Amino acid sequence: MEPIIKWPGGKSKEYEVIKNLIPIFSRYVEPFFGGGAVFFKLQAERATINDTCEELIEFYRFVKGERNKTEFKKCLYEYADNWEKIPKFLKLFEEDLIKLYGEYKVDKKTDREVREIITYELKTKEEQFNGLFLKEFALDPDNLLGEIIKNLFSKIKRTKEIEKKRGTIPKKDLNKNIETAFRSGFYMHFRKIMNKNGSKYKTSLAKKIANYYFIREFCYGSMFRFNSKGEFNIPYGGIGYNRKNFRGKVDYIFSKEVEELFKNTKILNRDFEETLEEEKLDKNDFVFLDPPYDTDFSNYEKKEFGRSDQERLAKCLYKIKAKFIFIIKNTSFILNLYKNKNGININKFDKTYLYNVKGRNNRDAEHLLITNF
Ligand SMILES: C[S@@+](CC[C@H](N)C(=O)[O-])C[C@H]1O[C@@H](n2cnc3c(N)ncnc32)[C@H](O)[C@@H]1O
Repeated sequence: MEPIIKWPGGKSKEYEVIKNLIPIFSRYVEPFFGGGAVFFKLQAERATINDTCEELIEFYRFVKGERNKTEFKKCLYEYADNWEKIPKFLKLFEEDLIKLYGEYKVDKKTDREVREIITYELKTKEEQFNGLFLKEFALDPDNLLGEIIKNLFSKIKRTKEIEKKRGTIPKKDLNKNIETAFRSGFYMHFRKIMNKNGSKYKTSLAKKIANYYFIREFCYGSMFRFNSKGEFNIPYGGIGYNRKNFRGKVDYIFSKEVEELFKNTKILNRDFEETLEEEKLDKNDFVFLDPPYDTDFSNYEKKEFGRSDQERLAKCLYKIKAKFIFIIKNTSFILNLYKNKNGININKFDKTYLYNVKGRNNRDAEHLLITNF
């Protein structure tokens, strides 16, 4: 099975490296769960999963049914329905927009006029559409429309600059640009809802997490980055995301196989150390560990995972009773924590090509595979 949420550092590929090493176990434990690629591949009958990221863990709790799954399902399908409406709505006015662009690019219309016409077009066509995005879904429809207008206008402006430099853009690319700008506006609105959830916007937890899921799926490269105010600021993924099968992903979240997998899975939202200590691990448990890298500057969430955390983790692993496999990018700091320790084995592999690295010299892709059995 594949993960149900896009998460940076997913380990689907690395599963190939570890699959033949995995011992027989009675419980699977994953303290740095993220997207849980190995968990989905392995499909253990009993598991404990943990991550510090609150929204991520709430998402899994809804999926499992520890929270109101029916409400969550309704919220997620609303995103699918509204996302799919976009091309139908675009049909109503994109030709007008392309004509408008034609005039704008030969300076027959000013910036201001273009902005006003876009606003007018959207507002009137929205009425024909019987209200495009309902308040219950959009929460702040004026902001949503405003974001779409802003994104359409800036795309049109940029396209004009690009055409000046590089020559005419084919018509079908103009259409794609308009669609991307529209979807980007939609995304930016819900990114704002996410950033201001709890302050300007108050929603149910189900809506909050459905919105979080939508943003994670459509943000560029599934990255995390926050500005100085602590707001998530990754833009829309771009043209390649326009036709993403979001509904298919939502169907998968609510499929029988995912439900089965989570049935005997305990879900925790703690620091890894607490989980490793309080879960009373024994020799029949198997722990898979994939923490943030020693060199990771792009921290997940807003908390950093620093060297003192790597040291805390190493201390847990020196004394752990369960068998473990631990994957991490090779740095001399990490290597020093684990080398020459009783019962601990270290192997290296190249992440890009997934082979043993003896003699290879690609330090950046070099990963350590640390085990205690
Ligand atoms: C490399 S990712 C795991 C990716 C996962 N293996 C996958 O396949 O998607 C590391 C995870 O550790 C989590 N994390 C960071 N600090 C943590 C801590 N102190 N305790 C537990 N989890 C933490 C992050 O939220 C992130 O999801």
